[in-house]
Amino acid sequence: MFIIITIITTLLISELSTIKSLELRANCGFPGKPYRSKIIPEEKSVYDEGETVSFQCSDYWSPPQMRKCVNGVWVGPPARCGNFVNNVELNDAKLLDMSFGLPIEKFHYRNINLTSMEKYLPNSFLSHRYPKHRLRVTNDHEFMWKLNFTRPAVKLFVRVNFNFINFTLLDQAIKNNFSFYIDVEISPYRTCNLDYQNSNAWNDNGNRIDSYFTCEAHSYEDLQRDLENPNNYMIMRTKSSHNLPHELVAIFFGNVYGNDSEPICGEPETDFGQTYRVRQEHRDYIIDCLDSQWKDATPNTYKHFINHQKCIGDMIWNGTKPKCIPIRNCPIQKILNNNRRNFNENDTMDKNPLIVDSILRYYNFIENQTIYAIDGTEIVYACASVDYILVGKDTRTCKRDMTWSGIEPVCKSE
Ligand SMILES: *[C@@H]1O[C@H](CO)[C@@H](O)[C@H](O)[C@H]1NC(C)=O
Ligand SMILES: *[C@@H]1O[C@H](CO)[C@@H](O)[C@H](O)[C@H]1NC(C)=O
Ligand SMILES: *[C@@H]1O[C@H](CO)[C@@H](O)[C@H](O)[C@H]1NC(C)=O
Ligand SMILES: *[C@@H]1O[C@H](CO)[C@@H](O)[C@H](O)[C@H]1NC(C)=O
Ligand SMILES: *[C@@H]1O[C@H](CO)[C@@H](O)[C@H](O)[C@H]1NC(C)=O
Ligand SMILES: *[C@@H]1O[C@H](CO)[C@@H](O)[C@H](O)[C@H]1NC(C)=O
Ligand SMILES: *[C@@H]1O[C@H](CO)[C@@H](O)[C@H](O)[C@H]1NC(C)=O
Ligand SMILES: *[C@@H]1O[C@H](CO)[C@@H](O)[C@H](O)[C@H]1NC(C)=O
Repeated sequence: MFIIITIITTLLISELSTIKSLELRANCGFPGKPYRSKIIPEEKSVYDEGETVSFQCSDYWSPPQMRKCVNGVWVGPPARCGNFVNNVELNDAKLLDMSFGLPIEKFHYRNINLTSMEKYLPNSFLSHRYPKHRLRVTNDHEFMWKLNFTRPAVKLFVRVNFNFINFTLLDQAIKNNFSFYIDVEISPYRTCNLDYQNSNAWNDNGNRIDSYFTCEAHSYEDLQRDLENPNNYMIMRTKSSHNLPHELVAIFFGNVYGNDSEPICGEPETDFGQTYRVRQEHRDYIIDCLDSQWKDATPNTYKHFINHQKCIGDMIWNGTKPKCIPIRNCPIQKILNNNRRNFNENDTMDKNPLIVDSILRYYNFIENQTIYAIDGTEIVYACASVDYILVGKDTRTCKRDMTWSGIEPVCKSE
C-alpha cells in the first residue's frame, strides 16, 4: 500500500513540474456596501481576481471587515455597519471571581449614575464618566461580570475596552505571549462572536485591548423574540493570561440603521453580469441581468418574475437573484478542451505542446462553474516545456464582435 502511494505521488509531482497549472482569473461584481460606509481602496462595479476591499463605517466603530474576489465570487461575510445605541447606560456592576468553585463577589456597585456624555461618542460606559470607582481586576483569575443598564434595548454589536495597566513595563517575551479571553452575552436569543481584538497604547503605561463582537440572532424567530422583549443585561467572562491589573474602560453598543421593523442595509451585492435598480433606497432593490447582452438562465421562471433583494432583520439581504449568462461570447470550450490535452500522456511528443497558461477577466457562471469569454477576456498561451519556443503573440483578446484577436501562436522545437 505504502509503495503504491509513493508511486502515485511521484507521478503527480513529475506532472506538476513539467506543466504549470492553468491560472484562472475571473471578474467579480459589486461587493455590496453598507449604509453610511466607504469601500476602500475604491468602489467599482467590476473587480479583478484577487482584489480585496475593506469597509469603513461612519458611525459605530466597526472592526476591520474585508472581502476578497476569488474565482468570481466575494469571499468573506457581507459587510455590515451599524448605528450607536444611545441612552443605555451602565446602572449596576457586579464582579465575581469564578476561580474557586463558588463565585466570590469582588465588588457590586448599584445605581451607578454616569456623568454627562457630552464630547464623547455615544457609549454605555466610560471610566471617565464614573470617577467614583474603578471597575478593576488585579489578577489572572477567571471573572464573571454581571452588568445591567438603565433601559432594555436590542443590540447587534458590542465593543468592550479594557486597559492593562503597566503593560508597557513588561518584558517583550511576556508581551508577545499576552492574551485576553473575553466573551459576552446580551440576550438569550443571540450569540455573540468575537470578531476582532486590537490593542493600543494607552495611559497608565497601559495597553488598551478592544474586543468587538457581533451578536447574531439564532433564527428569524429568535430575532422577533428579541425585538419584542429586549434585555438590559450583559454578562461578560474574562481571563487575562498574565497577572496584570486591568480595568473596564468602555462599553459601546451598536444596532441596525433604520428601525427594528425596517432596517437599512445600504446597497446589495451583485454578481458580475448583474445590475440593480432601486425600489426603496438602501432597503429594497430589483436585481436584473446587466444589459441586453446578458440573459437570465434560471429554468422555469415565468416571464414577469422580479428578482429582488430586501433588507431584513439584522441588516441581512434576503430574496432572489437571476442567474445571468452572457448571450454572446467568444468560443473557448474548444480551446480549453485542446489545452495540453494528453501532452504528457505516455510522453509522446507529437502532441501539440501549445497550452493556455491563463485566462483573465472572464465570467465564471457560478452555478456550474462554466467559463464564459466575454468582451475583454484574455487568454495567454505558453509552451508546455522548455524544449519549445512560442512563436507569435502569446495573448488573444475576446473582441466586441465575439471573435478572438490575432491568431493562435505556435510552439516550435528549438
Ligand atoms: C445623577 O446625577 C445627576 C447629576 O450628574 C443628578 O442630577 C441626578 O439626580 C442623579 N441621579 C440619581 C438617580 O442619582
Ligand atoms: C440589575 O442586576 C441586579 C443584580 O446584580 C438585580 O438585582 C437588579 O434587579 C437588576 N436590575 C434590573 C433593572 O434588571
Ligand atoms: C505601575 O507601575 C508603577 C511603577 O512601577 C507603580 O508605581 C504602580 O503601582 C503600578 N501600577 C499598578 C496598578 O500596578
Ligand atoms: C506562552 O503561554 C503559554 C500558555 O498561555 C505557555 O504554555 C507558554 O509557556 C508561554 N510561553 C512563554 C515564552 O512564556
Ligand atoms: C420604521 O421606519 C419606517 C421608515 O422610516 C417608518 O415608516 C416606520 O413607521 C418605522 N417603524 C417604527 C416601528 O418605528
Ligand atoms: C426571504 O426571501 C424569500 C424568497 O423571496 C421569502 O420566501 C422569505 O419569506 C423571505 N424571508 C423573510 C424573513 O422575509
Ligand atoms: C497511455 O496511452 C494509452 C493508449 O492510448 C492509454 O490507454 C493510457 O491511459 C495512457 N497512459 C497514461 C498514463 O495516460
Ligand atoms: C451551465 O449552465 C448554462 C445555463 O443553464 C448552460 O447554458 C451551460 O451549458 C451549462 N454548462 C455546463 C458545462 O453544464
